[in-house]
Amino acid sequence: MRKIDRRGFLGLSGAGVAALLFAACGGTPQEEPAAHDAAETSAVGANAAAEDTTATAATDGSAAVVWFSWSGNTAGIAERIVGATGARAFEIVPEEPYPEVYDDCTDVALQEQRDGVMPAYRGDVDGWDGVSVVYLGYPIWWMDMPQVIKSFIDDHDWAGKTVVPFSTYYSSGWAGTPDKIADTCTGATVADGLSLGQNDLPSAYDQVEGWLEGLVL
Ligand SMILES: Cc1cc2nc3c(=O)[nH]c(=O)nc-3n(C[C@H](O)[C@H](O)[C@H](O)COP(=O)(O)O)c2cc1C
Repeated sequence: MRKIDRRGFLGLSGAGVAALLFAACGGTPQEEPAAHDAAETSAVGANAAAEDTTATAATDGSAAVVWFSWSGNTAGIAERIVGATGARAFEIVPEEPYPEVYDDCTDVALQEQRDGVMPAYRGDVDGWDGVSVVYLGYPIWWMDMPQVIKSFIDDHDWAGKTVVPFSTYYSSGWAGTPDKIADTCTGATVADGLSLGQNDLPSAYDQVEGWLEGLVL
């Protein structure tokens, strides 16, 4: 199990965000953010499930929770969805791990995005053809989905499926990602998702069950 430096945008100052967003337009992140405890609360993380990429919590047979999480925040939502729905769980674990150090990770993520890299990942969802609802989770990276999410989307047939996005972010909200999912998951319907700000965690995880109950799928 690899150790993660949980800094990232966790606790990033306003100026730091400005620097990073500036960086998204061609600059370089200038500030190193401070640690934030929220990420420590997640039990299902990029690391927690890394050894078993096809873990199945499973049971209703027709839903899957699929997520990528670098520092654990998004994994916390995934864990709650799995707990509430009994859906099968699949954590997207890149073949080449993202760097554990924040600055290195942001550099790699930005370069991947600029170059359109489609990173490989380990394993796959069991019984994809029989899955009708896909809860798809990711952190916002550089105002977009991480490239490894795009790899997953690209690798799968989405016709007839319902995609339910869930995400965490520092300040960008959805950053338009549900529309990108609608554009790229050909033939799928995109349901109302759940997007939580990292600074509202861990208490915001309590929204998960109510959101699920209100979902019309
Ligand atoms: C490489 C990288 C890029 C990020 N880009 C953004 C961004 O553009 N907007 C934003 O609000 N947060 C951004 N963040 C912050 C993450 O979205 C936020 O910390 C999220 O909760 C992390 O989720 P995770 O713990 O599941 O990885 C970025 C974080 C990293 C590591």
